[in-house]
Amino acid sequence: MNYRDLYLAAHKAMARAYCPYSHFQVGAALLTEDGTVFTGVNVENASYGASICAERTACVKAVSEGYDKYRALAVCSSSGSASMCGICRQFLAEFGTDLDVITGDDADHLTIRKLSELLPDSFSL
Ligand code: THU
Repeated sequence: MNYRDLYLAAHKAMARAYCPYSHFQVGAALLTEDGTVFTGVNVENASYGASICAERTACVKAVSEGYDKYRALAVCSSSGSASMCGICRQFLAEFGTDLDVITGDDADHLTIRKLSELLPDSFSL
């Protein structure tokens, strides 16, 4: 799958965001090494700290289905381009920082950056 289609998959998923508190929809699409795509949305909770971002939703879905090697992650929001939060950067870094992170206001204006650039010197054990 090309990165434009990956972004479109994130955008389509975004409609399923559960965000009654922020009203800020986020969609993510994670491309695995073998070409499988896992989408995710933000899922909020009345206990705000229990909320989970779209990027981690996609990653948790992938890991729990046996996929832990990724090529790219596309992210979008209801307000256009969205920059992945710090917790998600660290969470994804667990599985490798050579990941291409794709953002953009729409599928025709994409920015691609390595996770290693977005989170230099990530923590590891
Ligand atoms: N959010 C994400 O899903 N991903 C990010 O990288 C940043 C923030 C969500 C969390 C919350 O549901 C909403 O956006 C507003 O912060």
